[in-house]
Order: sequence, then C-alpha cells, then structure tokens
Amino acid sequence: MTIAPVQSSTSLGSSGWTDTRLILALEEVVETELNRHLGVAKEWMPHEFVPWSQGRDFDGVLGGEAWNIEQSKVTPLGRVSLVVNLLTEDNLPSYHHEIATMFGREGAWGTWVHRWTAEEGRHGIAIRDFLLATRAVDPVELERARMNHMSEGFESDNAHSMLHSVAYVAFQELATRIAHRNTGKFAGDPLCEQLLAKIANDENLHMVFYRNLLKAALEIAPDQAMRAIADVVTNFRMPGHGIPGFERAAAQIALGGVYNLRIHHDDVLQPVLRNLRVMEIGGLGPEGMVAQNELGVFLDGLDAQARKFEERQAAMQARRAARRAAE
Ligand SMILES: [Fe+2]
Ligand SMILES: [Fe+2]
Repeated sequence: MTIAPVQSSTSLGSSGWTDTRLILALEEVVETELNRHLGVAKEWMPHEFVPWSQGRDFDGVLGGEAWNIEQSKVTPLGRVSLVVNLLTEDNLPSYHHEIATMFGREGAWGTWVHRWTAEEGRHGIAIRDFLLATRAVDPVELERARMNHMSEGFESDNAHSMLHSVAYVAFQELATRIAHRNTGKFAGDPLCEQLLAKIANDENLHMVFYRNLLKAALEIAPDQAMRAIADVVTNFRMPGHGIPGFERAAAQIALGGVYNLRIHHDDVLQPVLRNLRVMEIGGLGPEGMVAQNELGVFLDGLDAQARKFEERQAAMQARRAARRAAE
C-alpha cells in the first residue's frame, strides 16, 4: 500500500481512515482485480439467448395479439421472480450513480465503474428481450412497474461509507447471482435457465472483485472493515426492495426456494465470510472485536430464524400436497 493511515492502526478510532484515503490506498488492488476480471470475463451475446422466432406483434400500434397468461410458458414462480430480477437490473442508472459518486470515475476505479455498468446493462437487455419474445410476462404491467420503480430511484443504505459500500456489494452481487440461478432452475424453460446461468456467472465475477477488495480493506483497516461488514450483514436488504409489490413477491420467492433466509445464510453470507475468514480474524482492536462479536450473535440468530422458516415452508408444502391429493 502506498498510502499510510493517519495514525498507527492500533490507535485508529473510526476516523483513522477517511474514505478518500481508503480509495487511494485500494487503487492498486482495484487495478489488479480489474485486470484479473478482464482476463477471466468471457464475452457473450445476449441476442443468442432470445428465441426471436417465437416473437410476434402485440396489440396497439401494430394491431397484433394482446398478451394473455396462457401464452406464458414459464412457471408462476418464474414469472414473479423474473420480473423482480429484471426490475432490479433496470435500476442500473441509479446504481451507477451511487458507485460513480462513491468510487469516482478516474483511474482504475473509474474503469471498473464503467465496465461493471456495461456488463450489468446487458442483463436487463437480455432478460427483457427474452420475456417479450416469449410472451412470458404481461408487457404492459412490466413497463408500468419499470416506470414506477425507476422513478423512485435507488438510494444506497451505505452511501455514508466507502467500506460499507464495498461490503454491501460483495454480498449483494452473490445474492443476485443466487437469485438469477435459482430463478432459472424454477422457471420451467431450459433456454431461460441457460440465459440466467450466463447472467449469474457475470454476477459471480462481480462478487469476486468486491470480495477481494474487501479482503484488502480488512488487511489495511481491519477494525473499520469489520464494523462495516457487521453493519451490512445485520441490515442487509436486496437492492430491489423498492419494487412495487416487493413484499408479496419476496414471500412467493422465499416459499418457492428461489431466495429465502436459509439461502441467504448458507449460500450468500457464509461463503463470503468464510472466504475472508471474517470470524477467525485475530488481533483486532476493541471496535473490531465488538463488531466481530455482533456478527457472530447475528449469524446464530439468523440460522435459527432460517430453521423456523424451513419448518413453515415444509408445513405449507405438505398442506398444498394434501390439497392437491384431495382435488
Ligand atoms: Fe446484473
Ligand atoms: Fe453484478
């Protein structure tokens, strides 16, 4: 690292590293990670995943056929989940604004911000083209939901702190990867699954970038980074939480096994925390130790909540199976 903290790390307090100094100190790591990312990210073409031959005119200007639900070949869970995933991707201008404001548009940081934005842009394009060509969802409802959601914008919960922002995106990119992958699994359409697997792969590379950055942050400012991780994990919300009808959709997505507390705990939080050995890091100051402890208590509580959720989920599935058997 070329930039030293203002004070020695043992006496740091939360003011030892300002965001500006952290951004400068991490620039080398960003450059390394950016080059690694560019080396492993493989170009792919969204248009190849869209069955254009299935597409036809809609009603309105072209006087084609209006959408109706019988035309949709994806599962009901797939429909709900695909729309949440797409609207989440659609809000990219707001996310870009957030990270460009936080990380800047200069140097390696800026190159990453723009490259990441370009990759994310492909996700919304690909999913929308797929949904419209296959008539998987109501195009009018989708457009109104997009207008509504984007008009609200997106304000990060973590804009006050660079370390909180990095910690959040490390978990959020993995959450998005898992949400896309599981949506594909349950959508009931092999091509849709392939497309979402491709997108999930991009999200995974994004996660790796931010996770490695967070690792470097834990090395240079361990107490502050630990505090950021504890805050982000204990207050985590999906980026699409502002989508109209999100609560109801999230409940369906949870029960259907696309994304729920168990998945969040086992497949999102734990892999990142284990990779960074967050719970094993020693030599922390008092601030870091308090945060690490808070995190441990929270994770135990979340695991218990996830167990309760699974019991409810199993009971509901049993009731549904019994209802089907009685029909
Ligand atoms: Fe994405
Ligand atoms: Fe991503």
